[in-house]
Amino acid sequence: MTAAALTASRAGPLKGRVRAPGDKSISHRALILGALATGETAIEGLLEGDDVLRTAQAMAAFGAEVERLGEGSWRVRGRGGLSEPAEVIDCGNSGTGVRLILGAAAGFDLSATFTGDESLRGRPMRRVLKPLGEMGATWTASAGETLPLTLKGGHLRHIAYRLPEPSAQVKSAVLLAGLHARGGAEVIEPEATRDHTERMLRAFGATVEVVAEGAGRRIRLPGGQALSGTAVRVPGDPSSAAFPIVAALITPGSEVTVEGVLLNPLRTGLLETLKEMGADLTVSNLRDEGGEPVGDVTARHSPLRGVEVPPERAPSMIDEYPILGVAAAFAEGPTVMRGLAELRVKESDRIALMAAGLAACGVGVEEEPEGFTVVGSGRGARGVAGEGRVVTHGDHRIAMSHLVLGLASERPVAVDQPGMIATSFPGFVALMRGLGGEIA
Ligand code: S3P
Repeated sequence: MTAAALTASRAGPLKGRVRAPGDKSISHRALILGALATGETAIEGLLEGDDVLRTAQAMAAFGAEVERLGEGSWRVRGRGGLSEPAEVIDCGNSGTGVRLILGAAAGFDLSATFTGDESLRGRPMRRVLKPLGEMGATWTASAGETLPLTLKGGHLRHIAYRLPEPSAQVKSAVLLAGLHARGGAEVIEPEATRDHTERMLRAFGATVEVVAEGAGRRIRLPGGQALSGTAVRVPGDPSSAAFPIVAALITPGSEVTVEGVLLNPLRTGLLETLKEMGADLTVSNLRDEGGEPVGDVTARHSPLRGVEVPPERAPSMIDEYPILGVAAAFAEGPTVMRGLAELRVKESDRIALMAAGLAACGVGVEEEPEGFTVVGSGRGARGVAGEGRVVTHGDHRIAMSHLVLGLASERPVAVDQPGMIATSFPGFVALMRGLGGEIA
């Protein structure tokens, strides 16, 4: 990880066709389900970011055979279960990694110690420990319900768990534990969250029953099911594609196509919002890849107007609010983003850091307890000063968002700890440079 700053400066229009890196959520799940399954799982397009590489390492420590065959091409040979790891499981920066693996590991008669980097050690684990505890798992932690902690699993019983917060990580942890619980597991989510675990469990041969319930869903995983290894093609990550897409929308003269973007309706909230703001976005070559909808997204520079984002849309774009805040800085009028309590417990407090970062770049922004409002100048690039040096607290999405802002603002924008971008988008700087962006 490099500690030196990176600076983005205004250059010409952004032009070209690129591929987004593999979807982070699907990459974690492919490795974990591959390890839980019996037989071989062949993965293509795996995201080789630090978060996912930690999960690959963890699955090997739990006894799966994990092999890299080439770029994005991985093979996992599972033994139908996990065994006790000899080493501490270090999930680095990854909340998804640790929470899903805690769920998967809880199903087995083993003890495992988990830790992570400074950010991850500060993030709430109670949200997964509570349901796993109700199923029969136990744990010890030196400081409250945070990492490092040691989990003891096995002999789990059925749970019907209503999610207190909209979290696909918690839903997934309970379902993965349910695979090895007597009677399986049921999760009730009041708001629908990304459903990659449910889709992938089916691809691995499991039965998952999903019933719509109001704005949410009831998901039932019957007990006593075994998974069989399968082929997984990982689509491009919409949360990463968001950066070149917004960069093109705010940089005059730009036209950028991002190919192979995952368009699962539970992940497309940002595209919907940008369209409401007046963005010229088109989707072509819509297809199905491995049970997920995928398409090529073309973004052209567009005058944008501020909007009020419906709070119920948050789960479908939760990781995209930082980059939406940047698009909003170039729009005319206020963009109101609310219902975002979850944003405060991500890799950083993203509400506080976006408010501070945008303000440092001369953008009008108001922080609220559960959201923020960005007041765009409506004068496009000429309305955003830039010239900020942005503190990222090691948060990859805060760094990438402000670098995109710097590509279109009057004066350059610098971010600290840019090395952390490699947790989710290792090729970000090269990709943006390839489109004509100036980042050095
Ligand atoms: C993820 C779910 C979301 C998201 C994270 C990935 C997943 O977190 O922010 O980047 O893969 O399940 P929550 O479940 O905490 O909302």
